[in-house]
Amino acid sequence: MTNGNAETRKRGNATQHGTDHPGFRDSAIPRLRDAVRIGVLVSGHGTNLQAILDACARGEILGRVAVVVSSNPKAYALERARRAGIPAVALTPRSFPDRATHDARLIEVLQAHDVSLVCLAGFLRILTPAFIEQFRGRIMNIHPALLPAFGGVGMYGAHVHEAVLARGVKVSGCTVHFVDENPDGGPIILQAVVHVRDDDSVESLAARIAEVEHRLYPLAIRLFAEGRLHTRGKHVQIARDAYELVRS
Ligand code: GRF
Repeated sequence: MTNGNAETRKRGNATQHGTDHPGFRDSAIPRLRDAVRIGVLVSGHGTNLQAILDACARGEILGRVAVVVSSNPKAYALERARRAGIPAVALTPRSFPDRATHDARLIEVLQAHDVSLVCLAGFLRILTPAFIEQFRGRIMNIHPALLPAFGGVGMYGAHVHEAVLARGVKVSGCTVHFVDENPDGGPIILQAVVHVRDDDSVESLAARIAEVEHRLYPLAIRLFAEGRLHTRGKHVQIARDAYELVRS
């Protein structure tokens, strides 16, 4: 598969992840020019952003972060981006008349940086259908629980862990999924389990899950960048030659 021309590069790996393309790459070592340009959307501390930056710097992901956009101008994630020499943009929602205008600007910023994969990393906004359509199959999110449990509107940050502890489940964890129009309902890419302890607090559980998130998200991005994910409806199939990576 060639991704040589500019138009194809702009669309990134879209066809590899669509429903109409068998799309698994044969080669274990994709060419460098295929490197994915990642746009990371944040609102807060940015520890997942940091994990993605570090994985790119270590050469584990065939790609790089091209731009970081925050909905919160004070987010520490912006500082992390600047320190890594990555363009950092704050788009404050209240300075736009409505969601549509905000998301149109967001699309412009991402396109200006030739982004082919959008990663939500603690981004506290619901994206409009127009945005999702623009990057369909190329938007990922990480959620700090095992979806479809403990997901959906209002389930973010500490609320998730509070609900997990209140329900008394024995396992929680994290989920990386593609984003579609259903909040936290898109095709699941990877999940990892974290055991809930009897004496867990929101903070202790969140901390153990965060540690796992920081490994899981870069791995999902790596698989995407290497063309090892194939989406069919709600199912994301992972190329057989990547099983070892996923199970380790
Ligand atoms: C993480 O728990 C992630 O699962 C959720 O938001 C949090 C972001 O944390 N989507 P950070 O900003 O990456 O530290």
